[in-house]
Amino acid sequence: MTEKTWMIYGANGYTGVLVCEEAVRRGHKPVLAGRSADKIVPLAERLGLSYVVVNLQDEENLAKIVVGFDLVFHAAGPFIYTSAPMVRACIKGGTNYVDITGEVTVLEHTLSYDQQAQERGIALMSGVGFGIVPTDCMANYVAARVPDPTQLELAVATTGSPSAGTMKTILEQSPSGTLVRRNGQLVRHPTGTGGRRIRFVDREHTVLPMSWGDLATAYRSTGIPNITTYMAFPERFLPLMRWVGPLSQSLLAVRPARRLMQKCVEKAVHGPDEHMRQTARSYVWARAANEKGNEAQAWLDTSEGYHFTAIAGVHCVERIFEERPQGALTPALAFGADLVLQIPGTKRYDRLNDS
Ligand SMILES: NC(=O)c1ccc[n+]([C@@H]2O[C@H](COP(=O)([O-])OP(=O)(O)OC[C@H]3O[C@@H](n4cnc5c(N)ncnc54)[C@H](OP(=O)(O)O)[C@@H]3O)[C@@H](O)[C@H]2O)c1
Repeated sequence: MTEKTWMIYGANGYTGVLVCEEAVRRGHKPVLAGRSADKIVPLAERLGLSYVVVNLQDEENLAKIVVGFDLVFHAAGPFIYTSAPMVRACIKGGTNYVDITGEVTVLEHTLSYDQQAQERGIALMSGVGFGIVPTDCMANYVAARVPDPTQLELAVATTGSPSAGTMKTILEQSPSGTLVRRNGQLVRHPTGTGGRRIRFVDREHTVLPMSWGDLATAYRSTGIPNITTYMAFPERFLPLMRWVGPLSQSLLAVRPARRLMQKCVEKAVHGPDEHMRQTARSYVWARAANEKGNEAQAWLDTSEGYHFTAIAGVHCVERIFEERPQGALTPALAFGADLVLQIPGTKRYDRLNDS
């Protein structure tokens, strides 16, 4: 494994640093990369690693750099602006590609390159972090336990908090509204509606339909044509979401307003600290059902999202080097529904005591 070369782009971001530290902890020596020398150099010096500085807009130079690596780990987001040039460079260079996006359109874009990835003999795998490894694995786990499933529901609850990068990405996606998949198509769902109570491993939570990456990836990995993804919210936010949701979508559709909000987020949000990353928990509930009324449910209890992302991300890199999957794949398609159980501190349940 040590002879494999890989580069982490966006290495200096909140999540990029966690991925770099996990890689070093596991004995890897990735090359650190990003667009800002003043941020990349001190990190490379601290971790004793080499570095390269390149702008994603400089596609010629990017392609020359990428061809020299076995794999690129892309950690720079919002991915709607960063993923496409790196995917193009990886296909050109015959270099494996992974990223940690949870953005539906980006996941769809990566999956659309399946044929080119197969022709080049490489893996293109978006979503090797908390979005979407646990939900992709749970979707495939419940789907396999129901004959001809036609409905899939996935819900996520966490006790952690988001990084600035995640908040900025959510703001970027906000104008697209809330999406669900119906009869194979992505369609809009009225934001703030459809709230319900779901029992997770820890307790019951109130959830609302929210666009989650599985609207793209679970459709690809399970083939189920009707998918709803939910996120837990404090009950008191629900009435507010019904009118603030659509209002903020219209406001955030105006680019300068979005940029202003993102600047505020950069100043005010710092991401979970070490204590929270070690102690917070994340929960997933999944249900698949068919036309005959058969259904399967399962529950997952795992670690805090950013902690999970660093470990799962490096784990997927190691599996790509070992198993050499080819094509544009989801994590569960490449490594199976039990992939998530390889991440320390993760437990899956087929039933809860009171279900
Ligand atoms: N799916 C998941 O589970 C999961 C988990 C964690 C993070 N994420 C996603 O990962 C992304 C990064 O999150 P974060 O918390 O690390 O954010 P962050 O701290 O804001 O870091 C963002 C990184 O991306 C770089 N970047 C942003 N736009 C760029 C561009 N146009 N060209 C080149 N580099 C660019 C930044 O470089 P500069 O510092 O030079 O600006 C920085 O290195 C977000 O989209 C977030 O949603 C997803």
